[in-house]
Amino acid sequence: NLADFDEIWVFGYGSLIYKVDFKFIECENAHISGFERRFWQGSHDHRGTVAHPGRVLTLSSIENTRCFGKAFKVNPSVFDHLDHREKNGYLRHKVTISLADTRTVQGLVYIASPDNEAYLGEASTQDIAKQIFDSSGPSGPNRDYVYMLADALRHYDEIDQHVFQIEHALNQLSKPL
Ligand code: BEZ
Repeated sequence: NLADFDEIWVFGYGSLIYKVDFKFIECENAHISGFERRFWQGSHDHRGTVAHPGRVLTLSSIENTRCFGKAFKVNPSVFDHLDHREKNGYLRHKVTISLADTRTVQGLVYIASPDNEAYLGEASTQDIAKQIFDSSGPSGPNRDYVYMLADALRHYDEIDQHVFQIEHALNQLSKPL
């Protein structure tokens, strides 16, 4: 039970990197091992609609790799807000978080697994980019989610081939023929 803790770490790898709309006690650059970001989760409620879902991030487990993100130490009450924000198929999982200052802490991360209703799964860079290019929802155009994340990753000098390839494909789609 989250309420049994005074403070909990949460690892953000997507919009939590650039949109921090909650109070935190501490914030550190961080990574988790054995996962990579993938635009494999459908978005019915933020960056698309039920009829035309957008694509947002989830984590895929891949050995010998790591995923950069930001870790926030929060009061457990923050999870009411985050659970609502991430309600479209994401569940909290326990994870070991390596902080940039070399501390290792236990925390939680939101992952959308293949068994959730909105899951879309793997597709080619082109197909993912096309779907993102064509999608928009209550939170705005799906492509803005990619651009904000790619900009944030560059800001932290982080290379993420999957994200940058999709950003590149989106730029190509935006060019006049
Ligand atoms: C994240 O930034 O960690 C995140 C954002 C949206 C959904 C799930 C996770």
